[in-house]
Amino acid sequence: MQIISTVNELRAWSRAHRKQGKTIGLVPTMGALHAGHGSLIRAARERCDVAAVSVFVNPTQFGPNEDFARYPRTFHADCSLAESLGAQVVFAPAVDEIYPEGAETFIEVEGLSDRLDGRSRPGHFRGVATVVAKLFVAAEPDLAFFGQKDAAQVAVLRRMTADLRLGTEIVVCPIVREADGLALSSRNVYLNTLQRSQALVLSQSLHTVEALVAGGERGAEALLAAARSVFATQPAVRVDYIALLDWATLQPVDRAQPGTLFAVAAWVGETRLIDNTILA
Ligand code: PAJ
Repeated sequence: MQIISTVNELRAWSRAHRKQGKTIGLVPTMGALHAGHGSLIRAARERCDVAAVSVFVNPTQFGPNEDFARYPRTFHADCSLAESLGAQVVFAPAVDEIYPEGAETFIEVEGLSDRLDGRSRPGHFRGVATVVAKLFVAAEPDLAFFGQKDAAQVAVLRRMTADLRLGTEIVVCPIVREADGLALSSRNVYLNTLQRSQALVLSQSLHTVEALVAGGERGAEALLAAARSVFATQPAVRVDYIALLDWATLQPVDRAQPGTLFAVAAWVGETRLIDNTILA
Protein backbone atom coordinates (compact mmCIF):
# COMPACT_ATOMS: atom_id res chain seq x y z
CA MET A 1 0.00 0.00 0.00
CA GLN A 2 1.18 3.45 -0.93
CA ILE A 3 1.00 6.51 1.33
CA ILE A 4 0.51 9.68 -0.70
CA SER A 5 0.65 13.19 0.73
CA THR A 6 0.25 15.52 -2.26
CA VAL A 7 -2.71 16.25 -4.51
CA ASN A 8 -0.59 15.98 -7.65
CA GLU A 9 0.62 12.50 -6.73
CA LEU A 10 -2.90 11.35 -5.91
CA ARG A 11 -4.21 12.68 -9.23
CA ALA A 12 -1.37 10.98 -11.11
CA TRP A 13 -2.12 7.67 -9.33
CA SER A 14 -5.82 7.96 -10.17
CA ARG A 15 -5.22 8.90 -13.82
CA ALA A 16 -2.70 6.09 -14.31
CA HIS A 17 -5.33 3.57 -13.19
CA ARG A 18 -8.08 5.17 -15.22
CA LYS A 19 -5.85 4.88 -18.32
CA GLN A 20 -5.74 1.13 -17.71
CA GLY A 21 -9.55 1.07 -17.65
CA LYS A 22 -9.78 0.65 -13.89
CA THR A 23 -12.49 2.17 -11.69
CA ILE A 24 -11.43 4.24 -8.71
CA GLY A 25 -13.10 4.27 -5.29
CA LEU A 26 -12.51 6.91 -2.64
CA VAL A 27 -13.27 6.62 1.08
CA PRO A 28 -12.95 10.04 2.74
CA THR A 29 -12.22 9.86 6.50
CA MET A 30 -10.71 11.86 9.32
CA GLY A 31 -8.81 8.80 10.55
CA ALA A 32 -9.17 7.12 13.95
CA LEU A 33 -10.55 4.32 11.81
CA HIS A 34 -12.98 1.77 13.25
CA ALA A 35 -15.13 -1.01 11.80
CA GLY A 36 -17.59 1.58 10.41
CA HIS A 37 -14.84 3.05 8.25
CA GLY A 38 -13.71 -0.52 7.55
CA SER A 39 -17.11 -1.34 6.04
CA LEU A 40 -16.72 1.58 3.63
CA ILE A 41 -13.24 0.44 2.58
CA ARG A 42 -14.56 -3.08 2.06
CA ALA A 43 -17.43 -1.75 -0.07
CA ALA A 44 -14.97 0.32 -2.12
CA ARG A 45 -12.84 -2.76 -2.76
CA GLU A 46 -15.91 -4.75 -3.79
CA ARG A 47 -17.31 -2.13 -6.13
CA CYS A 48 -14.11 -0.63 -7.59
CA ASP A 49 -10.87 -1.95 -9.05
CA VAL A 50 -8.73 0.23 -6.79
CA ALA A 51 -9.49 2.11 -3.58
CA ALA A 52 -7.94 5.12 -1.87
CA VAL A 53 -8.68 6.08 1.74
CA SER A 54 -8.12 9.70 2.70
CA VAL A 55 -7.09 10.45 6.28
CA PHE A 56 -7.35 14.17 6.98
CA VAL A 57 -8.64 15.88 10.10
CA ASN A 58 -10.24 18.79 8.29
CA PRO A 59 -9.86 21.98 10.34
CA THR A 60 -12.55 23.94 8.47
CA GLN A 61 -15.38 21.65 9.58
CA PHE A 62 -14.68 22.20 13.29
CA GLY A 63 -16.09 25.20 15.17
CA PRO A 64 -13.78 27.34 17.32
CA ASN A 65 -14.87 25.57 20.54
CA GLU A 66 -14.97 22.07 19.09
CA ASP A 67 -12.60 19.13 19.39
CA PHE A 68 -10.19 19.70 16.47
CA ALA A 69 -7.11 19.77 18.71
CA ARG A 70 -8.03 16.65 20.69
CA TYR A 71 -9.62 14.69 17.83
CA PRO A 72 -8.08 11.18 18.02
CA ARG A 73 -5.16 10.68 15.63
CA THR A 74 -4.06 7.06 15.11
CA PHE A 75 -2.31 7.22 11.75
CA HIS A 76 -0.19 4.10 12.09
CA ALA A 77 -3.16 1.89 13.02
CA ASP A 78 -5.27 3.56 10.30
CA CYS A 79 -2.72 2.56 7.65
CA SER A 80 -2.61 -1.02 8.95
CA LEU A 81 -6.39 -1.33 8.81
CA ALA A 82 -6.63 0.25 5.35
CA GLU A 83 -3.91 -2.07 4.06
CA SER A 84 -5.45 -5.18 5.62
CA LEU A 85 -8.75 -4.38 3.88
CA GLY A 86 -7.04 -4.05 0.51
CA ALA A 87 -6.84 -0.29 0.00
CA GLN A 88 -4.10 0.59 -2.52
CA VAL A 89 -3.55 4.11 -1.23
CA VAL A 90 -3.84 6.15 1.95
CA PHE A 91 -3.95 9.85 1.09
CA ALA A 92 -2.71 11.81 4.11
CA PRO A 93 -2.09 15.44 3.16
CA ALA A 94 -0.82 18.21 5.43
CA VAL A 95 -3.24 21.05 6.11
CA ASP A 96 -1.44 23.43 3.72
CA GLU A 97 -1.67 20.88 0.91
CA ILE A 98 -5.48 21.07 1.11
CA TYR A 99 -5.64 24.74 2.10
CA PRO A 100 -2.68 26.45 0.40
CA GLU A 101 -1.60 29.70 1.97
CA GLY A 102 -4.10 32.44 1.11
CA ALA A 103 -6.85 29.96 0.08
CA GLU A 104 -10.19 31.76 -0.23
CA THR A 105 -12.34 29.26 -2.10
CA PHE A 106 -15.11 27.45 -0.25
CA ILE A 107 -18.14 25.41 -1.27
CA GLU A 108 -21.43 26.35 0.33
CA VAL A 109 -24.51 24.17 -0.13
CA GLU A 110 -27.10 26.77 0.85
CA GLY A 111 -30.19 25.77 2.79
CA LEU A 112 -29.24 22.17 3.55
CA SER A 113 -26.12 23.31 5.39
CA ASP A 114 -28.21 25.16 7.99
CA ARG A 115 -30.33 22.16 8.98
CA LEU A 116 -29.74 19.42 11.59
CA ASP A 117 -26.03 19.28 12.45
CA GLY A 118 -25.43 22.39 10.36
CA ARG A 119 -27.79 24.36 12.59
CA SER A 120 -25.98 23.20 15.76
CA ARG A 121 -22.55 23.54 14.17
CA PRO A 122 -22.50 26.73 12.04
CA GLY A 123 -19.99 26.44 9.20
CA HIS A 124 -19.59 22.68 9.65
CA PHE A 125 -21.06 21.64 6.30
CA ARG A 126 -19.23 24.44 4.47
CA GLY A 127 -16.03 22.80 5.71
CA VAL A 128 -17.25 19.30 4.81
CA ALA A 129 -18.43 20.28 1.32
CA THR A 130 -15.20 22.16 0.64
CA VAL A 131 -12.87 19.35 1.69
CA VAL A 132 -14.87 16.66 -0.09
CA ALA A 133 -14.95 18.73 -3.29
CA LYS A 134 -11.17 19.12 -3.04
CA LEU A 135 -10.77 15.37 -2.48
CA PHE A 136 -12.97 14.64 -5.53
CA VAL A 137 -10.99 17.09 -7.67
CA ALA A 138 -7.75 15.43 -6.53
CA ALA A 139 -8.75 11.76 -6.74
CA GLU A 140 -11.32 11.96 -9.56
CA PRO A 141 -13.12 8.90 -8.13
CA ASP A 142 -15.83 6.99 -9.97
CA LEU A 143 -17.47 6.11 -6.67
CA ALA A 144 -17.10 7.68 -3.23
CA PHE A 145 -18.24 5.89 -0.10
CA PHE A 146 -19.97 7.53 2.87
CA GLY A 147 -21.78 6.23 5.95
CA GLN A 148 -25.50 6.66 6.58
CA LYS A 149 -24.32 7.44 10.14
CA ASP A 150 -23.80 11.03 8.98
CA ALA A 151 -27.13 11.29 7.19
CA ALA A 152 -27.20 15.08 6.91
CA GLN A 153 -23.65 15.01 5.52
CA VAL A 154 -24.87 12.57 2.85
CA ALA A 155 -27.73 14.94 1.91
CA VAL A 156 -25.33 17.89 1.61
CA LEU A 157 -22.78 15.92 -0.45
CA ARG A 158 -25.41 14.44 -2.78
CA ARG A 159 -26.70 17.96 -3.44
CA MET A 160 -23.19 19.31 -4.01
CA THR A 161 -22.24 16.47 -6.35
CA ALA A 162 -25.41 16.94 -8.39
CA ASP A 163 -25.17 20.75 -8.45
CA LEU A 164 -21.54 20.74 -9.61
CA ARG A 165 -22.10 17.70 -11.88
CA LEU A 166 -18.94 16.25 -10.42
CA GLY A 167 -19.59 12.86 -12.00
CA THR A 168 -18.71 10.90 -8.87
CA GLU A 169 -21.38 8.49 -7.62
CA ILE A 170 -22.09 8.75 -3.89
CA VAL A 171 -22.49 5.29 -2.33
CA VAL A 172 -24.09 5.19 1.13
CA CYS A 173 -23.23 2.29 3.47
CA PRO A 174 -25.25 1.11 6.51
CA ILE A 175 -24.44 2.14 10.07
CA VAL A 176 -22.09 -0.28 11.85
CA ARG A 177 -22.94 -0.70 15.55
CA GLU A 178 -21.57 -2.26 18.71
CA ALA A 179 -23.40 -5.40 19.87
CA ASP A 180 -25.49 -3.29 22.28
CA GLY A 181 -26.60 -0.86 19.56
CA LEU A 182 -24.22 2.08 20.00
CA ALA A 183 -23.20 3.38 16.57
CA LEU A 184 -19.43 3.23 16.10
CA SER A 185 -17.86 6.68 16.15
CA SER A 186 -14.31 7.99 16.44
CA ARG A 187 -15.69 10.14 19.28
CA ASN A 188 -16.83 7.16 21.40
CA VAL A 189 -13.32 7.10 22.91
CA TYR A 190 -14.24 10.31 24.76
CA LEU A 191 -16.95 8.48 26.77
CA ASN A 192 -16.29 7.14 30.27
CA THR A 193 -18.02 3.95 31.44
CA LEU A 194 -21.12 5.71 32.78
CA GLN A 195 -21.46 7.90 29.67
CA ARG A 196 -20.95 4.87 27.45
CA SER A 197 -24.08 3.27 28.99
CA GLN A 198 -26.04 6.54 28.91
CA ALA A 199 -25.22 6.89 25.20
CA LEU A 200 -27.36 3.82 24.45
CA VAL A 201 -30.40 6.06 24.70
CA LEU A 202 -29.74 7.27 21.15
CA SER A 203 -30.07 3.86 19.48
CA GLN A 204 -32.89 2.93 21.89
CA SER A 205 -34.89 5.92 20.66
CA LEU A 206 -34.45 4.67 17.08
CA HIS A 207 -35.69 1.20 18.02
CA THR A 208 -38.74 2.65 19.74
CA VAL A 209 -39.63 4.70 16.67
CA GLU A 210 -39.00 1.76 14.32
CA ALA A 211 -41.26 -0.45 16.45
CA LEU A 212 -44.05 2.14 16.44
CA VAL A 213 -43.80 2.49 12.67
CA ALA A 214 -43.86 -1.30 12.30
CA GLY A 215 -47.05 -1.24 14.40
CA GLY A 216 -48.69 1.23 12.02
CA GLU A 217 -47.97 4.61 13.62
CA ARG A 218 -47.06 7.27 11.04
CA GLY A 219 -47.68 10.61 12.74
CA ALA A 220 -44.61 12.71 13.44
CA GLU A 221 -46.04 14.07 16.67
CA ALA A 222 -46.56 10.61 18.20
CA LEU A 223 -43.21 9.29 16.95
CA LEU A 224 -41.25 12.30 18.20
CA ALA A 225 -43.04 12.22 21.57
CA ALA A 226 -42.16 8.55 21.99
CA ALA A 227 -38.51 9.27 21.18
CA ARG A 228 -38.48 12.19 23.64
CA SER A 229 -39.79 9.94 26.40
CA VAL A 230 -36.96 7.48 25.74
CA PHE A 231 -34.44 10.31 26.13
CA ALA A 232 -36.22 11.36 29.33
CA THR A 233 -35.03 8.09 30.92
CA GLN A 234 -31.47 9.51 30.75
CA PRO A 235 -31.72 13.08 32.04
CA ALA A 236 -27.93 13.43 31.96
CA VAL A 237 -28.08 13.20 28.15
CA ARG A 238 -28.84 16.61 26.62
CA VAL A 239 -30.86 16.40 23.39
CA ASP A 240 -29.65 18.55 20.51
CA TYR A 241 -32.32 17.46 18.01
CA ILE A 242 -34.88 14.70 17.50
CA ALA A 243 -36.31 14.95 14.01
CA LEU A 244 -38.39 13.23 11.37
CA LEU A 245 -37.31 14.48 7.96
CA ASP A 246 -37.20 14.09 4.24
CA TRP A 247 -33.65 12.78 3.71
CA ALA A 248 -33.00 14.75 0.52
CA THR A 249 -34.18 18.17 1.75
CA LEU A 250 -33.72 17.70 5.52
CA GLN A 251 -37.12 19.38 5.95
CA PRO A 252 -39.40 18.09 8.73
CA VAL A 253 -42.32 15.90 7.65
CA ASP A 254 -45.70 15.40 9.36
CA ARG A 255 -45.94 11.73 8.52
CA ALA A 256 -43.42 8.94 8.18
CA GLN A 257 -43.16 7.27 4.79
CA PRO A 258 -40.80 4.60 3.46
CA GLY A 259 -37.43 6.34 3.22
CA THR A 260 -38.17 8.98 5.86
CA LEU A 261 -35.15 9.85 7.98
CA PHE A 262 -35.47 9.74 11.76
CA ALA A 263 -32.38 11.40 13.23
CA VAL A 264 -31.15 12.28 16.72
CA ALA A 265 -28.21 14.18 18.16
CA ALA A 266 -27.38 14.54 21.83
CA TRP A 267 -24.66 15.58 24.22
CA VAL A 268 -23.33 12.93 26.56
CA GLY A 269 -21.10 14.98 28.84
CA GLU A 270 -18.85 16.99 26.51
CA THR A 271 -19.34 14.56 23.63
CA ARG A 272 -21.87 15.18 20.88
CA LEU A 273 -23.20 11.95 19.36
CA ILE A 274 -25.53 11.40 16.39
CA ASP A 275 -27.55 8.45 15.16
CA ASN A 276 -30.40 7.80 12.73
CA THR A 277 -32.53 5.28 10.94
CA ILE A 278 -34.20 5.24 7.54
CA LEU A 279 -37.75 4.09 8.17
CA ALA A 280 -39.05 1.11 6.24
P1 PAJ B 1 -15.36 10.52 9.66
O1 PAJ B 1 -16.17 10.95 10.84
O2 PAJ B 1 -14.00 9.99 9.86
O3 PAJ B 1 -16.21 9.48 8.88
C1 PAJ B 1 -15.77 8.99 7.64
C2 PAJ B 1 -16.89 8.17 7.03
O4 PAJ B 1 -17.17 7.04 7.86
C3 PAJ B 1 -18.21 8.98 6.93
O5 PAJ B 1 -18.80 8.78 5.66
C4 PAJ B 1 -19.03 8.40 8.05
O6 PAJ B 1 -20.42 8.50 7.82
C5 PAJ B 1 -18.56 6.96 8.07
N1 PAJ B 1 -18.87 6.33 9.35
C6 PAJ B 1 -18.59 6.81 10.59
N2 PAJ B 1 -19.10 6.00 11.54
C7 PAJ B 1 -19.72 4.99 10.89
C8 PAJ B 1 -20.44 3.83 11.30
N3 PAJ B 1 -20.65 3.55 12.59
N4 PAJ B 1 -20.95 3.00 10.35
C9 PAJ B 1 -20.76 3.28 9.03
N5 PAJ B 1 -20.08 4.35 8.57
C10 PAJ B 1 -19.58 5.19 9.48
O7 PAJ B 1 -17.38 12.07 8.06
C11 PAJ B 1 -16.22 12.49 8.10
O8 PAJ B 1 -15.20 11.77 8.67
C12 PAJ B 1 -15.81 13.80 7.50
O9 PAJ B 1 -16.87 14.71 7.61
C13 PAJ B 1 -15.36 13.69 6.02
C14 PAJ B 1 -16.49 13.22 5.10
C15 PAJ B 1 -14.15 12.75 5.91
C16 PAJ B 1 -14.91 15.09 5.53
O10 PAJ B 1 -13.88 15.59 6.32
